[in-house]
Amino acid sequence: MKRKPVSLGKVELDQPLMTASGTAGYGAEFADYFGLHDLGAVVTKSVAHFEWPGNRAPRLHPTKSGMLNSVGLQGSGVDHFIEHDLPALERAGAKVVPSIWGHSVDDYRVVTEKLAEVADRIAAIEVNLSCPNLGGDHTMFAHDSRLAGQIIEQCERFGVPLWAKLSPNTDLLVDIARAVLAAGSQALTLVNTVSGMAIDIGTGRPTLGTGRGGLSGPAIRPIAVRCIYDVRAALPNAKIIGVGGVVDAESAVELMMAGADAVQVGTATFADPKAPAKILKALNKWADRRGITDWSQVTSAAHRA
Ligand SMILES: Cc1cc2nc3c(=O)[nH]c(=O)nc-3n(C[C@H](O)[C@H](O)[C@H](O)COP(=O)(O)O)c2cc1C
Repeated sequence: MKRKPVSLGKVELDQPLMTASGTAGYGAEFADYFGLHDLGAVVTKSVAHFEWPGNRAPRLHPTKSGMLNSVGLQGSGVDHFIEHDLPALERAGAKVVPSIWGHSVDDYRVVTEKLAEVADRIAAIEVNLSCPNLGGDHTMFAHDSRLAGQIIEQCERFGVPLWAKLSPNTDLLVDIARAVLAAGSQALTLVNTVSGMAIDIGTGRPTLGTGRGGLSGPAIRPIAVRCIYDVRAALPNAKIIGVGGVVDAESAVELMMAGADAVQVGTATFADPKAPAKILKALNKWADRRGITDWSQVTSAAHRA
């Protein structure tokens, strides 16, 4: 059954499912497993305007219902992305959404300016705000309405549609969502990983090289659902992309019913690189069986029940 495209501000997606940033590299690696053009979009690993080595190992630690990571945004920088990764994604027919990060408001501005030079080759930019402000008091941009708003305001002027990706590790989520929308973000991506830690009881030391890391996978789905639900209740007209613990059609539907217009799949791809394509197929079957002609019939259903 053909359904209406999903509208996220100026961006339209043929399908309501995409990859989550950082869990599929820069995306083209996945072209060997399924047609990237079948997905709504491919959101890449976050890229800065500079090369960055990331965190010290170990960087990944599996948990019973997900994983902890402290990859630390390792990457070759935006020039390398534009020269090598973007063409590979284009060859695979993907709708490309680069994710960006930085240490300061100005870092975000610089990387956006560079991506604006290839604006006709990308659909939007996802702004990963879960990064410490090294130019200031080291608080996360995503935990501070003023700074989060400033970043979006600086980047918005280049004219590429922005999606602000927010953190669940704050009780100010709704305020921050309001601030980034007021500053010009066209959509919200909810949520990034949940701050966590694990200890190796043999050595008594943290399992990750950095101590703390980000928890992802099914363990965080109820947190993602609560965040999406709260933001949707406060901001009925916001465009929301849900992410956190999507592993099958049912979990994708759960995030949509909480208020997401579209969803992303991250950690599930570590167990099965074909997960995004398989989940999307199952999601469409789920909708076909129910005669759903428009994804908006699913989005926010929990608020109407
Ligand atoms: C190994 C790994 C790397 C990640 N890298 C990024 C990143 O570069 N930028 C970003 O915004 N989120 C990053 N994330 C967070 C995911 O995009 C997603 O928000 C989170 O994992 C929750 O979704 P999931 O449960 O489907 O994995 C990363 C997650 C993992 C597990």
